[in-house]
Amino acid sequence: MDGLARLEYRGYDSAGVAMLDEGVLRTEKSAGKLANLRQALEERPISGDGAGIGHTRWATHGAPNDVNAHPHVDGNRRVAVVHNGIIENFAALRLELEDQGCKFLSETDTEVTAHLLGIEVAEHGDLVAAMRAVCKRLEGAFTLVATSVDDPGLVVAARRNSPLVVGRGQGENFLASDVAAFIAHTREAVELGQDQVVELRADSVSVTDYDGNPVEVNEYHVDWDASAAEKGGYEYFMLKEIIEQPRAVADTLLGRVSADGQLTLDEMRLSPEDLRSVEKIVIIACGTSYHAGLIAKYAIEHWCRIPCEVEVASEFRYRDPILNQQTMVIAISQSGESMDTLMAVRYAREQRAKVLAICNVNGSTIPRESDGVLYTHAGPEVGVAATKTFLTQLAACYLVGLYLAQVRGLKFGDEINAVIAQLATMPEQVERVLGTVEPVRELARSLADADTVLFLGRHVGYPVAMEGALKLKELAYMHAEAFAAGELKHGPIALIEDQLPVVVVVPSPKGRSVLHDKIVSNIQEVRARGARTIVIAEEGDESVRPYSDVLIEIPAVPTLLQPIVSTIPMQVFACELALAKGNDVDQPRNLAKSVTVE
Ligand code: M6R
Repeated sequence: MDGLARLEYRGYDSAGVAMLDEGVLRTEKSAGKLANLRQALEERPISGDGAGIGHTRWATHGAPNDVNAHPHVDGNRRVAVVHNGIIENFAALRLELEDQGCKFLSETDTEVTAHLLGIEVAEHGDLVAAMRAVCKRLEGAFTLVATSVDDPGLVVAARRNSPLVVGRGQGENFLASDVAAFIAHTREAVELGQDQVVELRADSVSVTDYDGNPVEVNEYHVDWDASAAEKGGYEYFMLKEIIEQPRAVADTLLGRVSADGQLTLDEMRLSPEDLRSVEKIVIIACGTSYHAGLIAKYAIEHWCRIPCEVEVASEFRYRDPILNQQTMVIAISQSGESMDTLMAVRYAREQRAKVLAICNVNGSTIPRESDGVLYTHAGPEVGVAATKTFLTQLAACYLVGLYLAQVRGLKFGDEINAVIAQLATMPEQVERVLGTVEPVRELARSLADADTVLFLGRHVGYPVAMEGALKLKELAYMHAEAFAAGELKHGPIALIEDQLPVVVVVPSPKGRSVLHDKIVSNIQEVRARGARTIVIAEEGDESVRPYSDVLIEIPAVPTLLQPIVSTIPMQVFACELALAKGNDVDQPRNLAKSVTVE
């Protein structure tokens, strides 16, 4: 239970354990925080004499309730399994298993693995061989950990694209998603590679590939203590969440293309007919999610030629917006609980508009009350400042735009596939940017005493500038303001004075050259008036170098997708500047992660 408590930051909508007790598999599962499971175990204690497994869940498939909580068991209750990740081919496997007579209790993708393992164990009597056979049938990302009544001292686990680590103790060994779970017992860890299976007993650890061949493993000593462990060794959740962005974007894109090359958005629930009848789109959201909406407008209007408005949710219903059955409202919300957005959703539905939610928290109120949903799979975001969820919202918005173009026949399949292929490279590009941000940290520390920072952008770079300013306000408590660079000359340029830091987001010179050339002129205009220019531009864009006091280079990506990479230096900048001022970046003053009042 202490181990689970240390992993609770990863997911906290339900939890459960399974233990072998005199040859009987006993489970206890509770929706909600881990405290509910503790309570249940006090009322119905399990005194296991074999291996045990446990799980804290961040729901992806199926609502966060007792039944969908892990562990899941096979029909004969001989095998129990917990799972992280998403099994993309679970629907086909479930149909196959149902045809064989398996009865499913939950709505999860995980339960198919319990039945598959149960069948394999019944046939061959060996949980390790069963795990290898089952993993070969699974597509997607997963960590699986299983026990069986046939061998009470054994735990078998496997991983693909999802974390799993072994803790080596004295006469005891551990398995967990991260070392946080067992750091109080041992700091000796073994990292597992891709597509590996581990056979764990109290006195032995054996790692093989899916074919049973022994593999070399990487053993290491963990040099941080238990209190840092919950944050994966980072001082703040925000730092960890920034680093998690490549994985988060990859998970949001995972499993969106069917075998025949079609974009498929499973949870969408809106029919192709519904989508074909849309005449106008209205995006509603707050804060960072609003900025994602502003960027989505550029992509949706460009790809689909459907008029698209974007509005802060708190203003929406008070202006008597024009909505009807042909209007599609897209509500973007990380938490799915922001009251402003929820009220706007309710209003839109009353006016008969169709509402699609883009949310991160499975089973939250906004997706429940919407006609359809597309989940971002960023995982739990604990820091109040939205970081990884913003990037995943962008990915989700691009998917919605492309899906609309597909359904409405506005683009050829190969055109859509070309953009999907570009999107698929984004996790790698995000990783590259994260590898180059050290100078941004130094810059931020040098500006800790500045009073004001201005941000400029054009086209999709304008909402990125707004996001940079919001991050700085909420974390560093500084005056920060964003302008569309073309608006400068209409007033804001009067703010420029000697050494005022101005951050400028520059579009690719290979995209719309007019846009690029215009912003280069804007940089010159502010610099001529004394500003200190901090320029975020594509690598190789030499035209901006002469006018940049600081040049931050980002990888070359298509114009519409640039926000996915150009936002990252802004996040790092704001976080580091706030830390230099001694602020708590996870819980900035006056704020809450989820704003449930209007
Ligand atoms: O959960 P939501 O996406 O609905 O939250 C919206 C805003 O409250 C949120 O994005 C807020 O602006 C962030 N703290 C910004 O980092």
